[in-house]
Amino acid sequence: MALDKQLRRQSLWLRDSYIWLLSAKVAQGRSGMSALDVGCGPGFVMEILGKLFAVTGVDTDEDMVRACRAKDLSVQKASAYRLPYRDCSFDIVYCSFLLLWLKEPSKALEEMSRVSKAHVLCLGEPDLGARIDHPESLAGLGPLLVEGMRKQGADPFMGRKLRQLFERCGLMVEVGVHPGVWDITKLRQEYEDEWRYIESTATTASDDQMRRLREAWREALSARTLFQYNPIFYALGRKRWA
Ligand SMILES: C[S@@+](CC[C@H](N)C(=O)[O-])C[C@H]1O[C@@H](n2cnc3c(N)ncnc32)[C@H](O)[C@@H]1O
Repeated sequence: MALDKQLRRQSLWLRDSYIWLLSAKVAQGRSGMSALDVGCGPGFVMEILGKLFAVTGVDTDEDMVRACRAKDLSVQKASAYRLPYRDCSFDIVYCSFLLLWLKEPSKALEEMSRVSKAHVLCLGEPDLGARIDHPESLAGLGPLLVEGMRKQGADPFMGRKLRQLFERCGLMVEVGVHPGVWDITKLRQEYEDEWRYIESTATTASDDQMRRLREAWREALSARTLFQYNPIFYALGRKRWA
């Protein structure tokens, strides 16, 4: 499944950063904390954070719920807009790559805040408007990805909106960007997967546009001039009275 592969890649890129943020800024030495993963997908982030917390997940998609259960992860089929838990049920309530897909992200955040005792986190949301594709021959890629995401119903600029969303929900928040490493060997190894993701997202591009971009991408990769950066923002929210 293409989505599954992409989510696995994302979780591997961000794994160390997620663990550092949660250990250094959230848990701060406390153990035995409980966490809820909202929009958990096939559970890759739950598998990572399950080493730190007792994590439960929810997702609206039956296939995702089934994939989590196959890995023995604790999961329920439920919507972010209506979480089947009482107020203050979890120490930490988090999501990743969810808000950009929601029509009403602030409604979901309010619901996440309701079931959290203290911490409400968005571990990762991309912002395609701040994407860099170098060299110049690849400049058309970013706008095509923005257009494609919009067509699929997502908000390509969610990263920059996290602060306002959290503050409007009455949360104190720290917003930041995950660090990135540009490893040309890894880009080479992941070339086919990356290009598959690009093709599945830039769906408004013509065949000719895609062919030219792919050629430019391949040339830049072999000339070692390829540089690609897509910032992934995070928001660490906290209830004011917690
Ligand atoms: C891009 S995936 C991210 C999965 C996972 N959080 C990750 O980072 O790997 C978005 C997930 O949100 C789920 N989703 C979409 N709308 C939802 C909603 N209203 N409530 C709960 N989950 C939802 C989708 O089914 C999908 O599994």
